[in-house]
Amino acid sequence: MLTRGARGVLESYVMSNSSGQIFQVVRQAARIEEIIGEHIALRPAGREFVGLCPFHEDRRPSMYVSPQKQIFYCFVCAAGGDVFKFVENYHKMSKGETLRFLAQRYGITLPEFRATNPQAASQRDKIVDANLWAAHYFQSNLAGNAGKAAREYLTSRGVHAATIERFQIGCAETQWTALATAAGKKGISAETLVSVGLVKSRSDGSVYDVFRNRLIFPIVDSSDRVIAFGGRILPSAAPEQNTPGQTDTDQEGPKYLNSPETALFSKRETLYALNLARQPLIRKQLAVVVEGYMDVVGCHQAGVENVVATLGTAMTEQHINLLRRFCNRVALVFDSDEAGRRAADRAIELLLRYPVDVRIAHVPDGKDPCDFCMTHGGEAFEKIIADAKDSLEYAWEKMYTAFQASDSLAGKQRASEALMRLVAPAILNASVDPIRRGLLQKNIADLVGISSDEVHSRIRRLAVSAGRQSGGSGAANPDAAPAMEIDMGLQRAAHWIIGALLCDFSLYQEFRERITVDLFSDSEMANLLARLMEYLEELPDLAAGNLAEFVAVLDDPAMMRLAIQAQAEAERGGNLKQKIDDSLNRLEELSVPRARENQKLDSSQSVTDDADRLKTVVDARMQAVKVNKLQRKLGPRPPGG
Ligand code: CTP
Ligand code: MN
Repeated sequence: MLTRGARGVLESYVMSNSSGQIFQVVRQAARIEEIIGEHIALRPAGREFVGLCPFHEDRRPSMYVSPQKQIFYCFVCAAGGDVFKFVENYHKMSKGETLRFLAQRYGITLPEFRATNPQAASQRDKIVDANLWAAHYFQSNLAGNAGKAAREYLTSRGVHAATIERFQIGCAETQWTALATAAGKKGISAETLVSVGLVKSRSDGSVYDVFRNRLIFPIVDSSDRVIAFGGRILPSAAPEQNTPGQTDTDQEGPKYLNSPETALFSKRETLYALNLARQPLIRKQLAVVVEGYMDVVGCHQAGVENVVATLGTAMTEQHINLLRRFCNRVALVFDSDEAGRRAADRAIELLLRYPVDVRIAHVPDGKDPCDFCMTHGGEAFEKIIADAKDSLEYAWEKMYTAFQASDSLAGKQRASEALMRLVAPAILNASVDPIRRGLLQKNIADLVGISSDEVHSRIRRLAVSAGRQSGGSGAANPDAAPAMEIDMGLQRAAHWIIGALLCDFSLYQEFRERITVDLFSDSEMANLLARLMEYLEELPDLAAGNLAEFVAVLDDPAMMRLAIQAQAEAERGGNLKQKIDDSLNRLEELSVPRARENQKLDSSQSVTDDADRLKTVVDARMQAVKVNKLQRKLGPRPPGG
């Protein structure tokens, strides 16, 4: 391991552009089967090796290592990548440390490091160091004299010592400058403390602690770095604190304070306790999402460990994508209060768009998951999860009951309309997986008791009227709906093209003129193709392309998985050139009606979510470079659409 200082310099070198070459040199020298074989037992299986995956609790060997492709891939937890990725994840090393580790192993002397941006790297190091120190500081507070009230509070909530240890819970002192002073003695600058939000400065230059008299929950990322803190207010010793009518926001500030967003911390991308829950949720293939820190703590203590929480925000797209890396079932367990119900509604709307099985449950009797686990235990909580309702069914029942109360027949009518309105964005969104959309449609049909076609046409009507009401803008795009039927074929074709190119990069030369990102309707595929084209366009020579390198460049597990699967399938099928040609023919044919639709959209100024998404996906630079055969075929756009 390197010292902090050296690491900073190395890190910034690694981030710089000129480092690509040295990575490639080391990658070519290293043998992935050799390196992985030193860490886990591998046995040959055909042209590959197989072993127990070290990134989840593997029962049957599911990690494959391909000497020929120089990549590894786990079929259960989807861990995968090149030799760098393996070492990085296995040893929890930074990119720079990994480079040095492998270079040393293969006797490669690294060039002199010339730091290009030492500030940024050392800033990150400082944040990590300051937070780590603070976490220990808060923990020792809790253990000492200053922690008496906090300890009593935790005891009153039923939290055990082992749980406190596991979640590294600590507390902040009541004094205004306790942390600032202690940090100063350790040589941590006030500037650093301000940048991580542990202290604030006054206009006269003096500083004060942000967290005071609070229970502290460190927020830890997947490489076990403390990236932020959540601080829960402690009941004050003063009796007036219990006066009825007094709210959490009196005197002491809000019930929870969180660290501000930094280079390392973003609420929208972070789930509390994912570091502890990752293995359990891979094992159970189910992620349970609750609302509060305390809920997570309570559930884990009760033995239900596949539980994470958002950080006081609604679920975001990033959260879902994070969870989808590990499993495709999510159970949202909300508090039984009104806020919990609203949170459930918001989450459903977003989650419907993803190929995730989402279930919703509420904890009974005005409790939250923490209290519930403390009183009734983990088994009872598991039962709540097991009984959770499918999100559509949940939404339907809720609407049905709400409208039923007023008038039974018209009530049902209005409930079904409300349900369709909820689901319309997901069904009309071309970037949503077509299988998913079909399923949604069928499920609604079953729930409401009408045919699937009827659902389809009603949703389209809804979209049309919504479009009119909003003056033609917004997500409602009736023309996106007929695209649904042909999307399946399009997706297959996209899969083949990418897969075949990944088997043989040199094929790109031949088809370069015909391959354009906008031929792909599926946004994940389009994204992957954009990345692949970017990679290929930048190669000095297509023969220099390397599957392992490309996969490493992706640095995104979902995309990696897609790439590896597409490559493997194309390889099995063979006939690569033919495959690309056929697939392109198919895409070009099917894209003609689509392109016309898009032109209509352009002219009516209506911008759909998908169009937006695709636009960001399609690299403008690449669009300029490439000549779109399709456009040539269609000729100039007719004036006014
Ligand atoms: N939260 C917040 N700011 C607040 C209140 C809540 O950021 N002023 C966030 C926190 O992440 C909190 C979550 O919303 O964990 C849920 O709030 P709540 O249910 O009030 O907190 P719990 O952690 O469940 O704590 P407790 O059970 O002690 O009430
Ligand atoms: Mn709560």
